[in-house]
Amino acid sequence: MPALSIALPKGRVLESAVELLERAGVGPLDGLLHSRRLIWDLPAGAGGTPGYVFRFVLAKPWDVPTYVEYGAAVLGLAGKDVLVEREKPVAELMDLGVGRCRMVLAVPAGSPVRSLEDIHFPWRVATKYPHVATRFCQRWGVQAEIINLQGSIEVAPLVGLADAIVDITETGTTLRENGLRVIAEVLPVSTRLIANPVLHKVHREAVEQLSAQLRQVVQVVDPNAGHAAGGITTWSRGEADAGHSVGGTGGAAGTGDSSPGAAGHLAGVGRER
Ligand code: PRP
Repeated sequence: MPALSIALPKGRVLESAVELLERAGVGPLDGLLHSRRLIWDLPAGAGGTPGYVFRFVLAKPWDVPTYVEYGAAVLGLAGKDVLVEREKPVAELMDLGVGRCRMVLAVPAGSPVRSLEDIHFPWRVATKYPHVATRFCQRWGVQAEIINLQGSIEVAPLVGLADAIVDITETGTTLRENGLRVIAEVLPVSTRLIANPVLHKVHREAVEQLSAQLRQVVQVVDPNAGHAAGGITTWSRGEADAGHSVGGTGGAAGTGDSSPGAAGHLAGVGRER
């Protein structure tokens, strides 16, 4: 029986992804949350298109687009942050509405910098997202040296490694507890359903069936709602989405991608950890 393979991100987003899939009628999947097994084959009748079975592959969030790019999985769930940073040739099918957070530019609370206009070279920005940070700085005419770190980004300005950070914030706790203040929003982030542009067509019926099931349960939220208040500069969604086109596959299908810049752009989603 043919299998529809889906790469899932391990970590914080996994639980909400599993919950979403189960609400869409796929599963049960709860065993996947409490195991070290990395491949899960569901039996026939576990949701989706009759005559198909589901195979779930658990991967590091940063690696999900790579699995999909190479066809090791037909579909994947990946964060918009990772998709924009990695620019892999995958198609975005849908905003799944989970893993919502923001990528922001933040400075120490005591910094004289209140807005992008206050920034003068030499300025150093620490980030896990060097590509996104570079594009953001170019877009706003900020001259900065980008320092690529792998984690604990918030510590960099506290020890003199950088003047600012570009990083993800969800609850705001990490910024607050490390005395950092947001001066600009770089990118609204959420988890997206992505597809291999070729295999997605090979398995069209099964992909469309699953997409339809997901669409029934996805909560549509304006990604920019409530984020741009207080004089915070926001990188528009169109600019953020101006990544690589993937031959028109997927593109703006699904929820929340009706902006002109979204058509045919790179997939985007949840928070990658
Ligand atoms: C992420 C992110 C922030 C933190 C923000 O880090 O890089 O550090 O979460 O979350 P909050 O706003 O809810 O506090 P992660 O947990 O992935 O660890 P890392 O620092 O090792 O990347």
